[in-house]
Amino acid sequence: RDSSTSRGLGDVYKRQMQTSKIISQAKEIQSWIVEKRRTIHQHPELMYEEFETSKLVQKTLSDLDITFEKDIAITGVVGIVGNGNGPCIALRADMDALPIHEETDIDFKSKIDGKMHACGHDCHTAMLLGAARLLKENEEEINGTIKLIFQPAEEGGAGGKMMRDHGVLQNPKVEQIYALHVAGTMPMGTLASREGTLLAGTSTVKIIVKGNGGHAAAPHHTIDPVVTGSKIIVELQTIISRELSPLESGVISITMTKAGNACNVIPSTMELEGTIRSLTLEGILKLQTRVKEVAESIAIANRCKAEVTFPGNDYPPTINDAECWNLGKSAAIEILGDAQVAEMGPIMGGEDFAYYTQEIPGCFSFLGVGNTEIDAVYDVHHPMFKVDEEALPLGAAIHVNSALKALKSLREG
Ligand code: NI
Repeated sequence: RDSSTSRGLGDVYKRQMQTSKIISQAKEIQSWIVEKRRTIHQHPELMYEEFETSKLVQKTLSDLDITFEKDIAITGVVGIVGNGNGPCIALRADMDALPIHEETDIDFKSKIDGKMHACGHDCHTAMLLGAARLLKENEEEINGTIKLIFQPAEEGGAGGKMMRDHGVLQNPKVEQIYALHVAGTMPMGTLASREGTLLAGTSTVKIIVKGNGGHAAAPHHTIDPVVTGSKIIVELQTIISRELSPLESGVISITMTKAGNACNVIPSTMELEGTIRSLTLEGILKLQTRVKEVAESIAIANRCKAEVTFPGNDYPPTINDAECWNLGKSAAIEILGDAQVAEMGPIMGGEDFAYYTQEIPGCFSFLGVGNTEIDAVYDVHHPMFKVDEEALPLGAAIHVNSALKALKSLREG
């Protein structure tokens, strides 16, 4: 009994040694990670146009002597670290920016009008490059393979699906995948996630309401698509409030409307676009069916015609594997401390990380980057979104610790 106790303590000591080494090595390269992040932040690129970001990733991996494959799904890059003897896991980052005009006061703000890294994918790429450097420096400790996946087009382009369909989870076969996403409304140095469904399934919706235009002074000689379209917008909300169980989650948001060019002309069409969300795939299908029925019926009742399509890339719900969240949670606790890591409820945001976890177990977690002292209080997708960069080496360290722990647990079966 005594010997087993001492062996247990020895394991704890070894683990603490390893974790503190990861943390100190990550802190040592903090300015290197921050510099990568700032370079990417100043040069944001939209989906499938991440050519410069991709080149920066490739150049960095080359400098680190890490072999990689490039031009996967247009701009995607996959680096490989490890000795190839043993299991294979993957860490994933996304590289694309958003069509938002940056309004922060930081001195490395976006140099491109109308484009901004407002979802923190610059941080994701930089943290994964940091992890790449740390893993390479400690490659002799890796029994197995770690794939570093840098993907394009998370923001509505389903880059993750394209990467998956190009086989990045094969040869060698990836057994588990992990990703971090920054969260501006969580304090710096905290992490949260959950087992099971974390993020919603999403679908875009487009409705073209067709009427018959004419002089605005003679509405009786027209069939007005604007009044009909407005009724559709309002009526769609009843699907959520009256048809969905109050305990089930669903969202229908019409976010874009287009009609007309003059105040005295009734146009002949009105276009509505928006997003549909549910925590299950069945929920998405149910909402899509009802949106189509309601829009078409209201159009008919008002002498119009509605064409309803769901044209975008529909993301499935992001579902975390229970074991992977357990492992990711303990990896994060070792880096951040017990009190800094929490369980959270599901949210209705969507993520194309779901395409990877449709195929293999994985875990997606949120890393806090908020800090009221530097006005880093805004949520992602806000023009004032800011990051406490102290979080970046922590994110890199969590990546490294998760990867090493995952390989270890897979080896031990
Ligand atoms: Ni994002």
